[in-house]
Amino acid sequence: VGFRYPGGDRRTLAGVSFTARPGEFVLITGASGAGKSTVSKLLTRFYDPVEGQVRLDGVPLPAMPLDFLREHVTLLPQETLILHDTIRENIACGRPGAAEHEIVQAARDAAAHDFIAALPEGYDTRIDPHTARLSGGQLQRIAIARAMLRDAPVLVLDEPTTGLDALAARRVVRPLRRLMSGRTTIMITHDLNLAPDADRVLVLDHGRVVETGTHHDLLALGGAYARLHGSQNGSSQADTGPRPTLRLGPL
Ligand SMILES: Nc1ncnc2c1ncn2[C@@H]1O[C@H](COP(=O)(O)OP(=O)(O)OP(=O)(O)O)[C@@H](O)[C@H]1O
Ligand SMILES: [Mg+2]
Repeated sequence: VGFRYPGGDRRTLAGVSFTARPGEFVLITGASGAGKSTVSKLLTRFYDPVEGQVRLDGVPLPAMPLDFLREHVTLLPQETLILHDTIRENIACGRPGAAEHEIVQAARDAAAHDFIAALPEGYDTRIDPHTARLSGGQLQRIAIARAMLRDAPVLVLDEPTTGLDALAARRVVRPLRRLMSGRTTIMITHDLNLAPDADRVLVLDHGRVVETGTHHDLLALGGAYARLHGSQNGSSQADTGPRPTLRLGPL
């Protein structure tokens, strides 16, 4: 596909082509502004490409009803979408009409049930995105619960762990893996911790795919991917290596 934003003076994507087979995990990475989120917008028809086609099971997206597409492809956008409503409604909107036990099960699978149940008003707690009542990691787990409930076979995840601190990101990884299991997943991320699990990694640069392969292939190639990975090494070593101990509360 090729793509230019309406009114834009240059092409945001050019000659981008890839396939995700059923159940595969494809990871897309690259520098800020490379066009990664734009790919997610084409996959979910917030925009249509100006050249080429996006196809689902061989069918061009414009040939299927939009609600059919929404039913089969779930997007977790870079900015978590939160409704000014209760936690229950924020999860239930994944599948209107879901039963209470299904909502609770989705929250459990998303590792969100325990913190929700610990709130004085539990699932009836109202969320306002402008109050700091829930952390970024908690909001992300609510978004994961919503996607669990939606239960679509294809997932598009845009920066699911970016913006979270290391601990919050780690808490999101297990529910994310649970969500991805058995689903075709296209994950857009700067965070390369999950890259070894991907069937294929694509590196986007200035709207073009410059490298494709597994995490190990691309590291060995010593190009753009290896540089992106190297620039993260400082932080990922801090995540896994010995760390200074910080103790809070009584010893
Ligand atoms: N709605 C828009 N209208 C015009 N240009 C846009 C729009 N959204 C994004 N762009 C431009 O398209 C390019 C790619 O943006 P995109 O959001 O896809 O990048 P990205 O790779 O997701 O970056 P990041 O890693 O920061 O999220 C950028 O140059 C951006 O300024
Ligand atoms: Mg983006």
